[in-house]
Amino acid sequence: MNLNDLFNDMERYAKEANVPIMLKEGINYLQNFVKEKNIKNTLEIGTAIGYSALKIASMGSYVTSIERDENRYNKAVSYINSSDLKDNIKLILGDALNIKLYDKFDLIFIDAAKAQNINFINNFKDNLEDNGYIIIDNVGFHGLVGKSSEIPSRNLRALVRKIENFLNYLDEQTEFKVTRINVGDGLILLERM
Ligand SMILES: C[S@@+](CC[C@H](N)C(=O)[O-])C[C@H]1O[C@@H](n2cnc3c(N)ncnc32)[C@H](O)[C@@H]1O
Repeated sequence: MNLNDLFNDMERYAKEANVPIMLKEGINYLQNFVKEKNIKNTLEIGTAIGYSALKIASMGSYVTSIERDENRYNKAVSYINSSDLKDNIKLILGDALNIKLYDKFDLIFIDAAKAQNINFINNFKDNLEDNGYIIIDNVGFHGLVGKSSEIPSRNLRALVRKIENFLNYLDEQTEFKVTRINVGDGLILLERM
């Protein structure tokens, strides 16, 4: 299927089935980044239905992407198999925290369970090329970060606290240079110092 039609189909499906996929601003940033930095090998944590994986692959990078939800993984497989980029994307079904990879990547894009960002970084940082980048999506968490003590719901409060911990972890970084990118709901860019 033509890529534009496929992206339209995926956007429609994501809306109907309530699957969170990256918003336009974030995707545009990511695609430009892949092009400008000449990224050739990307690891994505959080495939969902394969939308961002296909967007990244369409900029010339090979993509390995991990998803733990079987229904979403199956949907991603079928979308990607119907595209010309199918040979450039490898999908893995499983919990990224239980997966060990041995390849090296010049970009690791993390867009999965927000409370696990530090664990994802620790699990995959050895897979990053020396001059590679990590991009983490959606750290702003809808304006709730910094206000966890005011949130009545216990689960949401716990999640926002974990994101606040992550932001503190970023402030105390000695391994990575941290850049906050103000697109979409907020992106974080990490580069090795
Ligand atoms: C926001 S969606 C990803 C959207 C996708 N990157 C896009 O823009 O097209 C997050 C996905 O991460 C998956 N996920 C969350 N925690 C995960 C984990 N530990 N391992 C693998 N996948 C995970 C969820 O099942 C969900 O489908």
